[in-house]
Amino acid sequence: MAIVNLQNVTYKYPLTDVPVLQNINLQVEEGEFVAVIGPNGAGKSTLCYTLAGFAPHFFKGELTGIVEVAGVESHNSILSEWVLNVGLAFQNPFNQISGAKYTVFEELAFGLENIGIPRDEMIARVEGAMKLTGISDLADRSPYSLSGGQQQRVALASILVMQPRVLVLDEPTSQMDPIGTREVFGVIHSMAESGMTVILVEHKMEWIAQFADRVIALKDGEILMNGDPSEVLTSPLLPSNGFGTSRYTSVARRAQELGLWNEGKLPITLDEAVRGFNSSLTKEEIPDARAK
Ligand SMILES: Nc1ncnc2c1ncn2[C@@H]1O[C@H](COP(=O)(O)OP(=O)(O)O)[C@@H](O)[C@H]1O
Ligand SMILES: [Mg+2]
Repeated sequence: MAIVNLQNVTYKYPLTDVPVLQNINLQVEEGEFVAVIGPNGAGKSTLCYTLAGFAPHFFKGELTGIVEVAGVESHNSILSEWVLNVGLAFQNPFNQISGAKYTVFEELAFGLENIGIPRDEMIARVEGAMKLTGISDLADRSPYSLSGGQQQRVALASILVMQPRVLVLDEPTSQMDPIGTREVFGVIHSMAESGMTVILVEHKMEWIAQFADRVIALKDGEILMNGDPSEVLTSPLLPSNGFGTSRYTSVARRAQELGLWNEGKLPITLDEAVRGFNSSLTKEEIPDARAK
């Protein structure tokens, strides 16, 4: 049985007329790594809130359909139990900070205190998560004194300490430079490798292409596509619906338009792009490239 099961889920925020999620059907298997893409306003963050139980438990509003994680339905559960199964790192890490603690270490221990984890285990989990996310040197800092990228690492660590079965990450590297992004994707990848189920909202297609088992394309609150990364990420439906595209796919698509791409499939990774261009360029005469 799928660990995440959404059936005909429709959700409307309070005081609004139009549902932000419409008829969402989504099953995720235990250990799967699923990426969610979509233009701004598509409902990606709302989908994360729904998975994490914040919609409707915290945001209220109107939820219909079934939201089930690990065999428990969200409307039969309370948020404090739900968070043991699903951990959400918010798009804006500032929203994640409890405001109740003075240091990063205490902030990370906060959730564990609430569920009564013994002190020794608590310290071990916090130190482990800090090491993994590269924030050990921030242990004594105030969570509010950190940069956006540091706060995102703290947000991720505060989820990892809870050891949820499903990790939901809403643009977890949006405030990071390329080096931070690479490091954090390393952490996310090792979580996935360890068997955690990962649902990742992300714009950085190159990273999705490397790690995701499946890609969900969300548009206007509905699932437009749900499938294999190489199919979804190269679909002509993406550019025509306001989605971003990987640079490798875009450059190959342009080459295809110019008759300079002979592979059937468009690439989603650098390696695929290089292979495709190598085989295409030997078959085609390209005066500019050959003249030099
Ligand atoms: N608290 C809220 N109340 C009412 N509408 C909201 C709220 N939060 C988001 N929305 C609306 O829901 C839609 C989807 O937003 P969101 O889930 O944040 O999309 P995304 O993460 O894909 O950019 C947007 O039209 C947004 O304005
Ligand atoms: Mg969002």
